[in-house]
Amino acid sequence: MYEGIKKAKSGDVITDRSKEMERWVEHYSELFTTENTVSEEAINNISALPALDELDTESTIAELEKTINSLIDVMASRNKYATFSNGIKVPLLGLGTWKSKPGEVKNAIKTAIDAGYRHFDGAFSYENEKEVGNAYHEKITDGTVKREDLFITTKLWATYHRPERVEYGLRLSLKALQLDYVDLYLIHTPMGIQYKGDDVLFPNGENGEFLADDICPTETWKAMEKLVEKGLTKSIGVSNFTIRQMEDILKIAKVPIATNQVENHPCLDQKEMTDFCKSKNILITSYSPFGSPDRPWASDKDPNLLEDPVVKEIAGGKGCTPGQLLIAYHLCQGFLCIPKSVTPSRIQQNFQLEKPRPLSLLDVRRRQIYGLPRTISR
Ligand SMILES: NC(=O)c1ccc[n+]([C@@H]2O[C@H](COP(=O)([O-])OP(=O)(O)OC[C@H]3O[C@@H](n4cnc5c(N)ncnc54)[C@H](OP(=O)(O)O)[C@@H]3O)[C@@H](O)[C@H]2O)c1
Repeated sequence: MYEGIKKAKSGDVITDRSKEMERWVEHYSELFTTENTVSEEAINNISALPALDELDTESTIAELEKTINSLIDVMASRNKYATFSNGIKVPLLGLGTWKSKPGEVKNAIKTAIDAGYRHFDGAFSYENEKEVGNAYHEKITDGTVKREDLFITTKLWATYHRPERVEYGLRLSLKALQLDYVDLYLIHTPMGIQYKGDDVLFPNGENGEFLADDICPTETWKAMEKLVEKGLTKSIGVSNFTIRQMEDILKIAKVPIATNQVENHPCLDQKEMTDFCKSKNILITSYSPFGSPDRPWASDKDPNLLEDPVVKEIAGGKGCTPGQLLIAYHLCQGFLCIPKSVTPSRIQQNFQLEKPRPLSLLDVRRRQIYGLPRTISR
């Protein structure tokens, strides 16, 4: 049967899509394990790919070949890049730094750079940017990397949403990070909080009440655009925004939204959001890809994605660890992915994506990874 596919010409029509796709995955799996042939163009085109369930039975061999090639390329994507709509490249896989404590985070970043990571996700509110900056500085000074080799993200905290405070908020981060610019600056959350000082992230009122600040995110966005003009960030984006909030920004944006960084994993698949972003040429960045087992409000009763029997079973079949499988789950769907770890062996292991045999969207759906319980506490 496979011979038939090989002989098929571009433009031929196939009728049994799922069977053919499986055979193609198997075939490319073999290629993948012997030679890592990655087409940069395919990686760049990943966000434009149709999802499998969008391909109808009239889909042509050419369409399927393009899809499969790109999936395989993404699986081989150590240090491969996606491209924002402004043309700027971003490594698909990055290291997260939320909850990475001072005393741990410097070593984590240096280990990651040595392992090959070039994309790092941080935020002012993680309260570790000084040490994160020390790690970049040391690796640049000792010649391991150049600044331009690194893709560095940080985020505007909610107390800096007023337009007159936006540049100040970024400059606080730049100073701590010892950088002249970041590669990506995100509005961390759509809701503003009243400013009560740089060291007060969550101010409370006299009666302990939450002090929201009533600023429309579109006003904050206009001030974010000025940071691009000034060269303080190369790209800008949002995080934790709803579709409606993004639509509001799109109505006034002169600089494109590069990405929406959202929680995304098999227990919280963001299909509506990911479809929307794809239609607007906005990349998805998946945060908490392992379900954030170390989140401060985790409950013992919550399922642990890394320990989930379905995840473990599929990972076993693919010759990879649950963590590698959960990362592949994002990359094969064209999402940027930023798992966090401060453990050197895990940092290295999470980056070794050439090990798992390719995971396709077909696997994801057939093995019902989407059927995992959605009961993680939020
Ligand atoms: N924009 C936002 O609002 C937002 C919100 C949440 C997260 N984020 C970003 O996304 C990043 C990742 O999300 P997250 O930190 O919530 O959680 P996560 O990446 O889903 O999970 C991190 C946890 O998984 C553990 N871990 C990592 N690799 C592992 C492996 N191979 N095997 C077993 N355990 C492993 C880590 O342990 P060790 O560290 O002890 O190794 C840590 O406990 C954050 O760090 C942050 O940069 C952004």
